[in-house]
Amino acid sequence: MTALAHDLRHRISKNISPIGTSGEFAYSSPQALMVGTPDEAEMSAEFVIVSKVEDREYDVITSMKAYGLYDPEKVKLVSVEMPPEVKDAPKLPPVAEIAKLQGDPKQGEAAVAVCYACHRIGKNGVEFGPELTTFGKQQTTEVLVEAIALPSATISHGFEGSEVKTTDGLTITGMILSNSDPLIIKCMGGLVQTVPKSRVASVTPMTKSLMYEPSQLGLTAQTIADIVAYLKSL
Ligand code: HEC
Repeated sequence: MTALAHDLRHRISKNISPIGTSGEFAYSSPQALMVGTPDEAEMSAEFVIVSKVEDREYDVITSMKAYGLYDPEKVKLVSVEMPPEVKDAPKLPPVAEIAKLQGDPKQGEAAVAVCYACHRIGKNGVEFGPELTTFGKQQTTEVLVEAIALPSATISHGFEGSEVKTTDGLTITGMILSNSDPLIIKCMGGLVQTVPKSRVASVTPMTKSLMYEPSQLGLTAQTIADIVAYLKSL
């Protein structure tokens, strides 16, 4: 294993926490996705697949308590923050220009691995953002390009992000599934965190998308065209 692979594995294993009643595990590691080379991206996608989380109903608090999985006094929470903006990232051409590029679905199939951390596509990936298996068939190239190149231009209904600050200084970004006691928030990678109301300092709706910017995913205009070609081929 390369030093980098080892480091990723370590960072991910540190963040593992139980989310369900049947011993399934999810991890949250926004850093794992900020990596630049295809090798590293592949690593993070691999972990996402391994830790695939089924979508489930979230009225599980009672059974979680019964299994000893939810104890408001002992809940372990982890910070999940949006990655910082990439400084001096090359500006992408306008959506219409990217839409004109000839995409290669084979290249796109490899490049789409960075999306698995947040999207289910066929049998791969985690449901955090919308499922994308049939999205490509239903939408125009322009809509697809815009969704990837400018994630915050339109935010899909029901997938709006929030930032929760806890009394002990953690920042947890994700989608709020329940805003009562406990607050339940689904974070990138599928990690679901259960936050006792007494530990919630503030809840602020995000104005930007929870989806990472192309520069944070290492996407160029051509990779976007390739991914779009792949999604359209499904
Ligand atoms: C960090 C998580 C994350 C990553 C990584 C990510 N997305 Fe998203 N994506 C989201 C979320 C959350 C939404 C819903 C909010 C929005 O519309 O911005 C979304 C929305 C979308 C949509 C719009 C879907 C709809 O139903 O309107 C498309 C298309 C999309 N993403 C494609 C991609 C592709 C392709 C990649 C990989 C290059 C990718 N995303 C990577 C989180 C992510």
